[in-house]
Amino acid sequence: PSLEKDFLPLYYGWFLSKKSSENLRKTGQAFLDELGSLKVFKKESKYFLPAEDPKVKLDLTSYFAKRPPGVLHCTTKFTDFGKAMGADEYAQQEVVKASYGKAFTLTISALFLTTKTAGARVELSEQELLLWPGDVDKVLPTDNLPKGSRAHVTLGCASGIEPVQTGIDLLEFVKLEKAGNKGDEIEEVGGGKLQYFGNGMWMLLLSKKIEVKAIFSGYYG
Ligand code: 2AM
Repeated sequence: PSLEKDFLPLYYGWFLSKKSSENLRKTGQAFLDELGSLKVFKKESKYFLPAEDPKVKLDLTSYFAKRPPGVLHCTTKFTDFGKAMGADEYAQQEVVKASYGKAFTLTISALFLTTKTAGARVELSEQELLLWPGDVDKVLPTDNLPKGSRAHVTLGCASGIEPVQTGIDLLEFVKLEKAGNKGDEIEEVGGGKLQYFGNGMWMLLLSKKIEVKAIFSGYYG
């Protein structure tokens, strides 16, 4: 048991199959392309443009240039090789050990984008929620959001933004939803209903949820 400590991964999560990963990247790209071309988005694009040069042409693909290498994943617990709070407790759970290397189907219910990150929202099943840590669904210690609120796949980050931000951004959407803010329903676009929450926060609720295949495992870097 003392040895185990030294060999915890950087993080645990679900790693998409190569095919699911490619498909989700494509869907994310199509979302950026479509959103970038919409009048409603262009009207609100100031949030994505430098204040000193607001006339520059916005290209969302190059804006979110930091894309995860390799297959996409949904982090459950960031354990930081055992150094993170609650890392050992998480790793020692029977359900974590028993699920290691097992296949799951994740459901993607929405795509979202802020000035910092682009991601896919994941809707976890009862069984998948058993692998979800109890301490990650909050931005502030006082936040009280449903378990799994933070579950997501990072698709891209803006320059200078670390991937940890995607989950924080999703929690901001969930907090707005909880406060009764449904977002301005902008329009039906290819794929679903587009919502705008202000401040450059966009969410596409997929009319047809996407199922992706994924393996629960650890990433050691
Ligand atoms: P992500 O899950 O939003 O993509 C390696 O850095 C991975 O661990 C990334 O995928 C990243 O974010 C996630 N990560 C990094 N730091 C984290 C933290 N403090 N809390 C939760 N997840 C983190």
